[in-house]
Amino acid sequence: MNTLLSRRSFLGTSTMLGAGLAAGSLFAVNLSPTTKKLKVGLIGCGGRGSGALSDFLEACKILGIEGQLVATADAFKANAEGVGKGHGLAADRCYGGYDAYQKVVASDCDFVLMATPPAFRPVHVAAAIEAGKHCFIEKPVAVDPPGARSIIATGKKAAEKGLAIVAGTQRRHTAEYLRNKAMIDAGAIGQIKGGVVQWNGTVPWIATRRNDESDASYITRNWLNFVELSGDHIVEQHVHNLDVAVWFLGRLPVSAEGFGGRARRETGNMFDFFSIDLDFGDGVHIHSQCRQISGTHGNVGEMFTGTEGICYGGGKITGKKVDVAPITSDSGNAYVQEHVDLIRSVLAGKPLNEAKNVAESTLVAIMGRIAAYTGNSVRMADLLQNDKAPLYNFACTPSALDFEKGPVKMPAEVAPVPGDGGKIGVRG
Ligand SMILES: NC(=O)c1ccc[n+]([C@@H]2O[C@H](COP(=O)([O-])OP(=O)(O)OC[C@H]3O[C@@H](n4cnc5c(N)ncnc54)[C@H](O)[C@@H]3O)[C@@H](O)[C@H]2O)c1
Repeated sequence: MNTLLSRRSFLGTSTMLGAGLAAGSLFAVNLSPTTKKLKVGLIGCGGRGSGALSDFLEACKILGIEGQLVATADAFKANAEGVGKGHGLAADRCYGGYDAYQKVVASDCDFVLMATPPAFRPVHVAAAIEAGKHCFIEKPVAVDPPGARSIIATGKKAAEKGLAIVAGTQRRHTAEYLRNKAMIDAGAIGQIKGGVVQWNGTVPWIATRRNDESDASYITRNWLNFVELSGDHIVEQHVHNLDVAVWFLGRLPVSAEGFGGRARRETGNMFDFFSIDLDFGDGVHIHSQCRQISGTHGNVGEMFTGTEGICYGGGKITGKKVDVAPITSDSGNAYVQEHVDLIRSVLAGKPLNEAKNVAESTLVAIMGRIAAYTGNSVRMADLLQNDKAPLYNFACTPSALDFEKGPVKMPAEVAPVPGDGGKIGVRG
């Protein structure tokens, strides 16, 4: 949902409620425009998890509400306790282990924030929605087609239950991107005919194996370098730019074809670079390009060429003059704004639901990865609809549930080789 539109509709709802009309069934849980305190739980207490928690609490402040952390969970208890301690949370409310998320969703929190490696997201979001919690889910939201479809199904369930799901694709909560999207919709650059989306940078980090460490512990700590946990960097990082392409074009690509490889990575089993042609049909192509190699040219952004102008992501836009409503932001920080939008939507009884958007963008990235790993042309319909297609049920292992059942076996630290006898799906 477009934040601009949703902000307008929140105003409408608040005005209606202020005029004394019955709120009744609008509210799924006991939250309303007069709520003064929100309880929050966190699953995944690493860098982004602790950041998302601070952002949520900052959003509460902006909205004049008290925010309180009531439970944390992490695969490693020390991480859960570390974040808990920083927020005055008792140690017995900080849970460790691969099943610790169950304690958070069973707690008295109103909202759950999720920032584990993406492989765990489908199971964790489903549990949180089942338990009646509003969710903030970091991107990406899956590593394989069944995971992405599961998020779409959970999103539908959330809608039925009146629960919100906001995703960490923060460009959709950034005023400049919202303005350019509104201008494109108003015809500023005419019809988009092509473009390029890029995340070219460095390997963010690697974690080396400790003496006597279990496979599960090692690959959980070094998750960013294993496709089974991260989805590879085309999914984990480049999903942001792919999401902008899907959002601005307003449709999904039909198919992907491309290549990639591994030149420098020292651990794990992922590629260093991808170059993918996304075919959006009607002769419209977007080039998706991402690289994680230190010492190479860095470039992160999006560019779309239209029949009447050009748009650079959330930056410069040239073309026809169009009038769009001004877009206001409560916070200059999109990481905070996404929580303001989440909370405001819930309190207004109009819960935002971004599950489908983020699941589809995640699936576009997965499609690009499979195309590069296998050297095949991959069709979106085979990942999303055709349940007889070999890739439809392709799932990465070990899976989230394998980790819960434990112990898991570490995948070989070898990258896929395209064209290896057409073993489509084996290492998708
Ligand atoms: N929106 C953004 O700009 C942005 C920026 C950074 C990261 N992220 C996303 O946030 C997520 C987390 O990234 P990060 O940088 O915080 O990684 P991180 O490694 O710093 O933190 C991940 C945490 O999750 C924990 N964890 C792993 N498996 C778990 C499980 N099954 N249950 C509970 N906890 C588990 C880890 O122990 C770790 O503490 C990823 O999906 C990443 O793509 C988004």
